[in-house]
Amino acid sequence: MSAQNAKPAERNIILIGMPGAGKTTVGRALSALTGREFYDSDTEIERREHMPCAQIFGVMGEAYFRAVERDVIAELTRRSGVVLSVGGGAPLLCADLLRRNSVVVYLWRDLAAIAASLEGESRPLTRSLEDLRRQYDARHGVYEDCAHVVAENASDVQTVAEQVLAAVQPHLAARLLVINGPNLNLLGAREPDVYGAATYDDLVELIATSAAGLGVAVDCFQSNHEGALIDAIHETAGEFDGIVINPGAYTHYSYAIHDALKSVPVPAVEVHISNVHTREDFRHKSVTAHACRGQIVGLGFFGYVAAMEYLLNEVQK
Ligand code: DQA
Repeated sequence: MSAQNAKPAERNIILIGMPGAGKTTVGRALSALTGREFYDSDTEIERREHMPCAQIFGVMGEAYFRAVERDVIAELTRRSGVVLSVGGGAPLLCADLLRRNSVVVYLWRDLAAIAASLEGESRPLTRSLEDLRRQYDARHGVYEDCAHVVAENASDVQTVAEQVLAAVQPHLAARLLVINGPNLNLLGAREPDVYGAATYDDLVELIATSAAGLGVAVDCFQSNHEGALIDAIHETAGEFDGIVINPGAYTHYSYAIHDALKSVPVPAVEVHISNVHTREDFRHKSVTAHACRGQIVGLGFFGYVAAMEYLLNEVQK
């Protein structure tokens, strides 16, 4: 496996939800079920501050607690392949961190069950059922926006852990490789009237942001050399679940790239930034598209995002 085509880092499973939703308990069961390490952000905060969370809230104030929490979550989300449960306020504060290299699960639980489980506990910001309801109303939408998956905690812990695992599996499984061929490294500078002003780095950034949004792992590879593109395609076997490919001008004549795509059991989607059909005649023909599930042309960078979404759906089938 070449360096530029290394295996994507294994994504974390992150549990978010209301205080008392069962994130820590389900997180531990999920850890036992998968063999992944388990971390709980509140426990890490307490370890770091040598004080229970409720006391940090009371003595140092919420702003201080949130700053420490963001710091701790930034550190924990740099790990890969772990199960992590985070405090109920975390998605309001750092949804960006939670979604990087992770599949985020919103563990939903009936408020009466939450209230019952919190009885006798001293947790910050949750005192009565009315408090809980107010907090739920303010947070539910934020949790939904932050999560890739919503799972209900309405059963015994083992069953819920199994349900969560089944729900995150397609996201964990989806590993995509985006391949760009010759001259696409010069996007931004190259014929901006045709390809736009955005650069290749902008494209990579858009792909990374979209990947985080979809909860899939995506690597990007670009080369101006046919052989390197063929090697990258070969190396997807067993490592990636889908290929998004813009072969550049090779589209129009590289039977070798066509054959490489045919040689691996990985579905591919061909993307062209420009509408090749409104351009010179030689661009109307693609010899590589025959080896792909489909072709997206003329939609600019959005074509890559649409192709990723299609391939994620294929993995989920
Ligand atoms: C392209 C179209 C090709 O014809 C051209 O050679 C490219 C870019 C596109 O993305 O529109 O290099 O693939």
